[in-house]
Amino acid sequence: MNIIRIALAAAAVTLLAAPAGAQTAPKLKVGLMLPSSGTYAALGAAIENGFKLYVDEQGGKLAGREIEFAQVDDESDPAKAIDNVNKLLKRDNVDVLIGTVHSGVAMAMAKVAKETGTPMIVPNAGAGAVTGSMCAPNIFRSSFSNWQPGYAMGEVVAAKGHKSVVTITWKYAAGDESVQGFKEAFEKAGGKVVKELNLPFPNVEFQALLTEIAAAKPDAVYTFFAGGGAVKFVKDYSAAGLKKSIPLYGAGFLTDGTLEAQGSDAEGLLTTLHYADGLGTARDNAFRQAYAKAYKMPPDVYAVQGYDAAQMLAVGLVAVKGDLTKKAEFSAAIEKARIDSPRGAFTLSRSHNPVQDFYLRQVVGKENKLVGVASKALADPGRGCSL
Ligand code: PHB
Repeated sequence: MNIIRIALAAAAVTLLAAPAGAQTAPKLKVGLMLPSSGTYAALGAAIENGFKLYVDEQGGKLAGREIEFAQVDDESDPAKAIDNVNKLLKRDNVDVLIGTVHSGVAMAMAKVAKETGTPMIVPNAGAGAVTGSMCAPNIFRSSFSNWQPGYAMGEVVAAKGHKSVVTITWKYAAGDESVQGFKEAFEKAGGKVVKELNLPFPNVEFQALLTEIAAAKPDAVYTFFAGGGAVKFVKDYSAAGLKKSIPLYGAGFLTDGTLEAQGSDAEGLLTTLHYADGLGTARDNAFRQAYAKAYKMPPDVYAVQGYDAAQMLAVGLVAVKGDLTKKAEFSAAIEKARIDSPRGAFTLSRSHNPVQDFYLRQVVGKENKLVGVASKALADPGRGCSL
C-alpha cells in the first residue's frame, strides 16, 4: 500500500515537473539486427559502435525522440533470418530496422521490411537485390553494393596490364556479385577471368584451392573475403608462398578491420573500397577522433557505415518531425539528401544505394593508406529496380 502511495506521489511530482502543455514524444525504438557471433562478429560490433556514436553526438535523441535499442544476434545465418527479424518487429515492436552484415540475411530482412512497410537501412550487406529487384520506397543502404568495389578493382587490375585472373570467394550473394562486378569491368577492358574458385560460407579450408591457383599460374588473383575469413585467407595465401609470385587484389573488406590480426602477411596489398585510412578531411578527422575516444580503437569501414545509417535515419526523422507515419515524406527526405559522411559526402541512387567514390588503398603497417580514387562517383546500375 505504502509502495503504491509513494509511486503515485512520485508520478504526480513527475507530471508537475513537466512544463505546462509540453508533451514528451514517445521513444523511438531502433531494431539492430547484426551478427555478434561468427566470422562477421567484429563487423557487427563496429556498425553498432558507429550508429551509437552518431546518436550520442545528438544527445541520444533524433528529431526530438529519444532513441532506444532492441537487438538480436543474427549469427550471419540466413536460415534464422525471418525468425530474428520477427523477434524485433513482433516481440520488441521496433519502429525501424537497421541491419545487417550478411547479404543472405539482409535479403530476408528486406522481404519482411517491404511487406510490413517498416523503414529499413542496411549498414553493410551489399546484396544487389536489396537495391535492385527487391527495392522499395522504405529500404535504403548506407554502405555499398557488392558489385561496386569489384567493378572498381576490375578497372585497376586491367590498367596494371594483367590479362588473366583467377577469382576466389565464398559461394553466396556477396562473393558471387563481387566477382561479377570485377569480371564486368576487367573483361570490358580486355582481361579474362580464367577460373572462378569458391567454397561455402563461412568455411576457411583454403588449401586445395590455393594449390589450384598455383597450378593455374594466372597473372593475378581477385578475392572477396571479410572478417575472420579474410584474416585466415591473407595468412594462408602468404604461407603458401603465393604472395611473392601472384599478386593478390581484393574488395577492401579483405584488409579492413583485420590488419591487427593479419600482421605482415597483409603488407602491400592493394584493395578498392569506399573508405581509406588517412583521407585527411576535417570531417573524417573529427569522426576518427570521436570514435577512437569512445571505443579505444580506430574506426573501419563498418563503423563509418553504421554512423551514416544513423545520419540517414536522422535526415528522414527531422523531415517528418519524428512522426514516422509520414512515410512518403520520410523517404523523400533521405532520397534527396547529401550525407556528410566521413568517407566523403554521398548521395543516393534512384534505387537507394550510395553513389560514391571508390578509393584504391594499399596496406602500410596497420593502415589501408589512400593511394588515389579508383572510380569517381560510382553508381550501382540498380538492375531490376523500378522505383
Ligand atoms: C555481404 O554479405 O554482403 C558482405 C559481408 C561482409 C562484407 C561485405 C559484404 O565485408
